[in-house]
Parts: sequence; C-alpha cells; structure tokens
Amino acid sequence: MATLTYIGHSAFYIKTENNGILIDPFISQNPKAKFDENSLITDIFVTHGHGDHLGDAISLSRKTKAQITAVFELANYCARQGAFANGAGIGGKLKFSWGSAKFLPAFHSSSTPDDTYAGMPASILFDIDGTKIYHAGDNCLNQEMKTLAEVYKPDIALLPVGSHFTMDIDDAVIAAKWIGAKKVIPMHYNTFGLIEADIDDFKSKLEKENIETIILNPSEGIEF
Ligand code: NI
Ligand code: MN
Repeated sequence: MATLTYIGHSAFYIKTENNGILIDPFISQNPKAKFDENSLITDIFVTHGHGDHLGDAISLSRKTKAQITAVFELANYCARQGAFANGAGIGGKLKFSWGSAKFLPAFHSSSTPDDTYAGMPASILFDIDGTKIYHAGDNCLNQEMKTLAEVYKPDIALLPVGSHFTMDIDDAVIAAKWIGAKKVIPMHYNTFGLIEADIDDFKSKLEKENIETIILNPSEGIEF
C-alpha cells in the first residue's frame, strides 16, 4: 500500500513502503502548501524549471541527499547549485527500487528562476509497484495525450486546470478522456489570482464522462 498526498499547486508526495517521492516541491514560497517537513524524502522529480515547480527541490536535495531527477539541462543546473541530480531524456524509462518513471512531452516552456535555459518541459509517468500515475506538468491539451491511453494506460492522472499558463477546465476534461485514466486529480489552480478555477464545475463535467474526480486540499491524499 502506498499513499499519494497533495501538497498544493502541482506538488505531490508519494510514500511507498521504503521511499518518499516528492514531485514539483513548491512549498516554502507557497503559503497554501502543506507538507510535514519530517517526511522521508528519497527522490525528487521536477517537471520543468519554473519557480512554482522547481520550488525547494535544490535546498531539499542538499539537505536530505535525495536525488533530483529532471530533464538533462535542468538536472545539470541543479547539480551546479549543489544538488544531487539525475539527468533524464524524454521517453527513456528510468528504473528505481520502487518502480519506474518516464519523462514524456509537455507543451509549455522551461527556464529557471534566474532565466537559465532548462531544456524541454515534461510530464512524468510513474509506475509505482504497478500503479501508473501520470503527472501532466504545466501542459496544454495536445494529441500526445492520446498516446497515454493507447500505450501506457495510467490509473491516476494529475491534471492542471487553472488556465492562463496551462489547460483550463474544459480542455482538461478532454485531456482526461484522451489520457484514459480511471481517476483524475486536478492541480495548478487557485494558488494565486491568475489561475482561479471553479473546481466543482470541473468535477461535475468529468463525472458526466464517468471519470472519477478526486479533489484534494493540501495535506489530503489517497491510498493506492
Ligand atoms: Ni511552468
Ligand atoms: Mn506552473
């Protein structure tokens, strides 16, 4: 049994029997984020270089020695800042003791807070003890999502819905259908004014499509 806990914005924490996996750890700069600082952290994943995703990754890696896995250019940037980093390419399968991760396309942009080029932005497909969790990163609606349903068949999809920088609710409903996940958890909304979303509207639209929608407040999670 493992748990997937929402921290806030696009940040999640996955706890397996022996590992603690952080994704897009935007914590100390997000007043709405909730995360127990004593949690075990063994792995950190970052979808792209923007500050609301890179977040505390570098300082947490320095402190805990957890490895940051990110696209090659962003991983090199993290390593130059003293983090433990593991460079990934889009499409390669990365193996871990808890399963695997595969970086997949995200149509967005990627630079670090000091404007360093950070390679391609990504979404990430995790396979954790056989459960497939797809974190869409800061994605837009795009045809690549159909590949998820056709080839990878994720169980749970974490989708941005806040618009302005990513998909909005209506595009995310289409994305959810194209991805084919049984369960959808929305993210990247209501953190600040530009990305406000009516999340109950999202839930009712998705449930008309018979897709289970799980709305999590920061610190809430699910078992899988
Ligand atoms: Ni971004
Ligand atoms: Mn973002």
